[in-house]
Amino acid sequence: MTEVGGNRCNFAICIYKSLHDYYNSRNDNFQLFSDNAMNELHVWDRLWVNARLVTMTIGHGEYGLIESGAIAAAGDSISWLGSMDALPLDVRDKTPDIIDVKGRCITPGLIDCHTHLVFGGNRAREFELRLKGATYEELLQAGGGILSTVNATRQASEEELLAAAKNRAEALKREGVTTMEIKSGYGLDVETELKMLRVARRLGEEDPQLDVKTTFLGAHALPPEYAQDRTAYIQLVADEMLSRVYVENLADAVDGFCEGIAFSPEEIEQVFVRARELGMDVKLHADQLSDLNGAALAARYGALSADHLEYTSEAGVDALAQSGTVAVLLPGAFYVLKETQKPPVELLRRYQVPIAIATDANPGSSPVLSLLLMLNMACMIFSLTTEEALAGVTRNAARTLGLLDDRGTLEAGKRADFVIWDIAHPSELAYMIGANPCAGIVKNGKPVAR
Ligand code: NIG
Ligand code: FE
Repeated sequence: MTEVGGNRCNFAICIYKSLHDYYNSRNDNFQLFSDNAMNELHVWDRLWVNARLVTMTIGHGEYGLIESGAIAAAGDSISWLGSMDALPLDVRDKTPDIIDVKGRCITPGLIDCHTHLVFGGNRAREFELRLKGATYEELLQAGGGILSTVNATRQASEEELLAAAKNRAEALKREGVTTMEIKSGYGLDVETELKMLRVARRLGEEDPQLDVKTTFLGAHALPPEYAQDRTAYIQLVADEMLSRVYVENLADAVDGFCEGIAFSPEEIEQVFVRARELGMDVKLHADQLSDLNGAALAARYGALSADHLEYTSEAGVDALAQSGTVAVLLPGAFYVLKETQKPPVELLRRYQVPIAIATDANPGSSPVLSLLLMLNMACMIFSLTTEEALAGVTRNAARTLGLLDDRGTLEAGKRADFVIWDIAHPSELAYMIGANPCAGIVKNGKPVAR
């Protein structure tokens, strides 16, 4: 029977017992705690029982599943989990809040590790044009695409951007997202890039149910005012923009769009060199529409993740494996752009590159606000197994954000972020389309929804 965190628990019980014995052995006059007060001393704040625990830990069978399990929180951490049989009854009896989840599944809080959630306007009219035959590349080259969102984002106030992003975040949260990443990249000037990142930071700070990691994506597209001078724009990104972002502590990582319609590997490298000098993590939109050896470039700089990867070669996959870079697959963008070349999933498996899945929520290539739908698409379109897909929005997504020590699996000592699902088996999460079986969310040890 799998039991995680038993040692820590035994240690806690030990402390409790010795306190109890110590105070009870004292002369009445000196007794500091009455038996009543002693009963109020508890080790766990909250305990969920009769759960199917989908721990997503490696080496504990499929999904790291504990069929009949219980999970406890103390403060904001998981203090114990294991099978019901192994529940220490004396500690259980002292737990003030016990919740019977009646056989429901509990997974780690979901992590959407690649989004562009902060933006002005939308691109529904462009969607119409694409349906009539215009391509994504043509629209961008004609000053639309990403650049039309840049216009709308520059014009929007910080409050307007925040209100719109909050709305979108609500949709993701309803499906159990407790952590997400948000990129800049629709400002492409110093003030608007900083404005986007401030909004992304505020989104996390003002919401007790959500943690946000921010990523600076100044190298997303060439803004019109630099159309004649690419070199100057890349210098602006690598020097002034990046320095301001760093000094104001607005980003946790630095990203770029390495593509024919965006920036060359050499241009991206100038940004990465500076980011690494500042000690910042990097990641890359790589090989989405063509193979520019983006995956290998990301790997060379020790990137946390390389994202999209439709055109990545075997050498690129090998490079990712060597550097421990996570492959982030984005089925929403693949679907919306009607791509035909799929990412090299079989090679990623063979080289044991961890795979994450994300919404890529953005107004152009992936107007997607459902991470559960991405699980289904990852299985249906990219042929992932349901377990690989779930690992892609938990364990491996945590890794892309440098958070695996803290979340992404259910383990004692990790943050108590988890989701209670009205399902009998974790495969149901990827299987159903449009159902939202989320029956409860626990963030930092506290029930926050439903
Ligand atoms: O991840 N690939 C580049 N950036 C986004 C698209 C942004 C947009 O179209 O607005 C992406 O797909
Ligand atoms: Fe993206």
